[in-house]
Amino acid sequence: MASKSVYLETFGCQMNELDSELVAGALTGLGYRFTTAADDADIVLYNTCSVRERAEQKVWSRLGEMKHRKNDQPDLVVGVLGCMAERDGKDLISRMPVVDLMCGPAELDKLPELLDNAVRTKASLAESDPQVAIRRSAKQVALQGNASRRSSTLSAAGDSLESLDLGRMISPVDFDGRRSAYVRITRGCNKFCTYCVVPHTRGAEIHRPPEHIIDEIKALADTGVVEITLLGQTVNHYRFEHDSAVTLDGVVQPQKGRAYKGSHNRDSFAGENTTTFADLLYRIHEEVPAIQRLRFVTSYPRDFGDDVLQVIRDCSRICRFIHVPAQTGSDRMLKMMNRGHTISEYYEFIDRCNEYLHQPEIGRPLMLGGDIIVGFPTETEEDHELTKELLIRSKYKNCFIFKYSPRPGTVAYDKIPDDIPDEIKRRRNNELLDLQTDISDTIAQEQVGGEFDIFVEGLSRREHRKRGTEVKPGSGMVGITIGGADPNATLAVLDQDISEPTVQMSGRTDGDLIVFFDVPTDAVKLPSEYIGQIVRAKITSADKLTLSGELI
Ligand code: SAH
Ligand code: SF4
Ligand code: F3S
Repeated sequence: MASKSVYLETFGCQMNELDSELVAGALTGLGYRFTTAADDADIVLYNTCSVRERAEQKVWSRLGEMKHRKNDQPDLVVGVLGCMAERDGKDLISRMPVVDLMCGPAELDKLPELLDNAVRTKASLAESDPQVAIRRSAKQVALQGNASRRSSTLSAAGDSLESLDLGRMISPVDFDGRRSAYVRITRGCNKFCTYCVVPHTRGAEIHRPPEHIIDEIKALADTGVVEITLLGQTVNHYRFEHDSAVTLDGVVQPQKGRAYKGSHNRDSFAGENTTTFADLLYRIHEEVPAIQRLRFVTSYPRDFGDDVLQVIRDCSRICRFIHVPAQTGSDRMLKMMNRGHTISEYYEFIDRCNEYLHQPEIGRPLMLGGDIIVGFPTETEEDHELTKELLIRSKYKNCFIFKYSPRPGTVAYDKIPDDIPDEIKRRRNNELLDLQTDISDTIAQEQVGGEFDIFVEGLSRREHRKRGTEVKPGSGMVGITIGGADPNATLAVLDQDISEPTVQMSGRTDGDLIVFFDVPTDAVKLPSEYIGQIVRAKITSADKLTLSGELI
């Protein structure tokens, strides 16, 4: 049988981007080919997100299009992976028989088997009666349900989850030349913020063994990866007990006053049998020196100990950027959201971060990032003003602002009516966006004249436009698809048309600020050879959120 071609489109967060890469690696290893042209594919997969209704609507409209496609291609296989599959449950197939396969985020290690079954089922249906093949789903389903919340099965769930990451077959370097990779440290979430579907779709919080994480990072470094971003919903709650198979959260001890293993103050660390987040950062930094940049998302404002701040300060290759969402500036809203901290505790935390880590004098200012939900039920103008105050005090370099979207299955959906009219949500959203744009602009201006190490990611948007090539948003691939992996071809595009004396490239500071700079094209070094390198540049100007610099 000729190898089947797969179109895989990813929605949602970095967790999903990583899952898509792992799935694509596994399927490529089994002989499937990946294509960026949905129209030519034998198999169409959507790795979906449920966090807001809009994310789901995009997938619904894609599925509607596929329904028409099946008329011409009865053996087409359509799959819904990820959070939306988990949230919708099995009845999605009865409502939408266009879906042949559903696979929740915690079951992705089973995808190859499901896909194989689906392909065979569709092929034999199409052979005997194409009309039946068009109408009938292949009904391949793997969902977690509530299984992982029962502690007896948590360990088994941990093992099965682990196999997807452990089986990582392809590095981003092989996909498209990217020198930056995501590595998961924690799965799931136990926080149950009242608005959020993630604990329902990703299951209970499970921390991966540090040895697995470090081995994975070493293997990635061997392929040429130089930047790692550790992923978890609340990374600072990472905690691995070496005498148990998996670690259950819920008993995160306050981390203040404790030291990380390896610091000078060794009397107070958590104990030989425990690896905390600070310990993990330190181990990666020490054991994998080839990793030039170590990042992590997302941080949770509670229980972020001084030990973590100390390790970031003491280890030069850990980046000074902390994405730590507050969601709102109002204590009343925080309580209704079940965030588990007050706004003064949040301010105490960011003050502490700045005290330890803000060092503009050595070219390492601390940058913070945030998320806000606007228009949560009962939000008053007074609450909204408090959120403005939060933006002003926190000085985020960037902040995502989302209109509240009620999600079925969450406490807020069941218990708190969505009573803020959309036009008020929209107006408040715009006010916060304007305010944040000014703040980001001021931060950008403050960097002019400064000198920074810049991790080179690729050609700038402007150069891509000139060449008519695809622009990847950051290093990620949300909204775009994994292509037929030919990294050499991808990189060759960067070196095309170098008729001008310079080419503009883009990269990031360690505080995650984007910088554009020109590199000469006099053939000493091709543009593609800069990718993944760290160059030094002086910032010469800032236009809104964009910094421009000169190599020094
Ligand atoms: N674990 C991370 C967030 C993961 S979800 C944390 O706790 O910070 C990413 C962001 O989506 C959240 O920070 C929140 O701002 C937003 N979000 C989640 N549920 C939402 C909802 N129902 N409506 C609007 N925004 C939501
Ligand atoms: Fe959702 Fe809260 Fe968990 Fe973040 S911490 S994923 S917002 S439940
Ligand atoms: Fe979306 Fe699931 Fe991520 S709901 S934000 S894809 S964890």
